[in-house]
Amino acid sequence: MTDLSVRLLSWYDQHGRKDLPWRQHRDPYRIWVSEIMLQQTQVVTVIPYYQRFVARFPTVEILATAPLDEVLHLWTGLGYYARGRNLHKTAKILVDLYDGEFPLEIERVCQLPGIGRSTAGAILAFAYGQRHAILDGNVKRILTRYHRVSGWPGRRSVEQQLWELADRNTPHKRIADYTQAIMDLGATICRRLDPLCDACPLSKQCAAYRRGDPHAFPTPAPRRDKPAKAVSMVMIRNTHGVLLERRPATGIWGGLWGFPECAPDADIPATIRARYGMIVAPEPGWDPIRHSFTHFYLHITPVPAKLVTNGCGIMETADLVWYNLLYPDERGLAAPVQSLLKKLSKSYGA
Ligand code: ADE
Repeated sequence: MTDLSVRLLSWYDQHGRKDLPWRQHRDPYRIWVSEIMLQQTQVVTVIPYYQRFVARFPTVEILATAPLDEVLHLWTGLGYYARGRNLHKTAKILVDLYDGEFPLEIERVCQLPGIGRSTAGAILAFAYGQRHAILDGNVKRILTRYHRVSGWPGRRSVEQQLWELADRNTPHKRIADYTQAIMDLGATICRRLDPLCDACPLSKQCAAYRRGDPHAFPTPAPRRDKPAKAVSMVMIRNTHGVLLERRPATGIWGGLWGFPECAPDADIPATIRARYGMIVAPEPGWDPIRHSFTHFYLHITPVPAKLVTNGCGIMETADLVWYNLLYPDERGLAAPVQSLLKKLSKSYGA
C-alpha cells in the first residue's frame, strides 16, 4: 500500500461518509444508479432523487420496462438528462443481453451507454470488491495536488499520467472503502476553491501543500468564453392548459417536454400558425432567464400567448399535449420549463 492509501483509509475510518444510502448494500443495480446520478452532481442533491428513483424502479427489470417519460420525470431538476436516457437504455441492454445481471468484466461494463472507465471501476469496486482505479473530478484534483501534476487533465497525456498515479495508489485490500474514501476526501477536504489542508490526512506528503500552491491545481482548461444562444419560449394556453411539445430525442433536453420555441426575432403568430395551424395572440414577454449549460448559455424570453382559434390545427398527439396546470401529470421537464409552469399556474390562479 502507498503512504497515500494507508493514510486515506485510516482517515476514512474516522471521518468517511459511511451512512450514504448506496453504501448500505452491495446491489449492483442500485450502486450503478447512484454512480450515474453522482456524475457531476453533489451527494446532497442526489440523495432524494436516488431514493425516489429506487423506490419507483426497485429492479433493473422494472426500470427496463418503464416508459422513458417516467424515468425523465424522476430526473427533472437533476440536469444532464442524457444520464437518465442512458440509464434506461442500459437497463434494457442488461435485461436483454445479461439476464438482468450486471456484468463482472470491466471491458463489458465500459461498453454500456453512459458508463466510462472511472464509473465502471467505481461500480465494480463497490458491488463486487474488484480492484480498479477511479479517476473522477475529485480524484483528479487530489492527485494533481498531491503529486503536483501540471497541465490540464483534459489533455490526453496528463490524463494518462493521472490514471497511472491513480492505479499505483489504489490498494489491494479494502477497495470499496478506499474508493469511497478518495471521493469523500475530494468532496469534503480537498475542495476546489477552499481546500481544508489543515484537516487533510495527506497534507504532510502533498507536494502542492508543501509548496504553498494547492489552488494552482488542477491546471484549468484553456479559457474559452461560453457562447450564448437566445430563444423565445411561447407559452400558449387554452382552457385545458398550456401547450407542451416533446423535444427530439437527441440534443439538449432530448426527450423532455418544453414550450414551442422560436428564434428571438421571429414573428411569433406567423411561426406558430405555420407550425401548428393555430392563431395565437402573444402578450408582453416576461423577464428573460439565463440558463447555463456546460458549453453555452441559453437566454430564454418567456412569451405568454392566448389561443384565439385552433383553426384546423392540432389535436393532442404523442408529442404534443395541453398540459393541465391544475392537475399536472408526470413527464420529464427541463428545469426552466418547470419553473415557468409553476409561475404560470400562480399567475393564472390555476
Ligand atoms: N461521487 C461519485 N460517486 C460517489 C460516491 N459513491 N459517493 C460520494 N460521491 C460520489
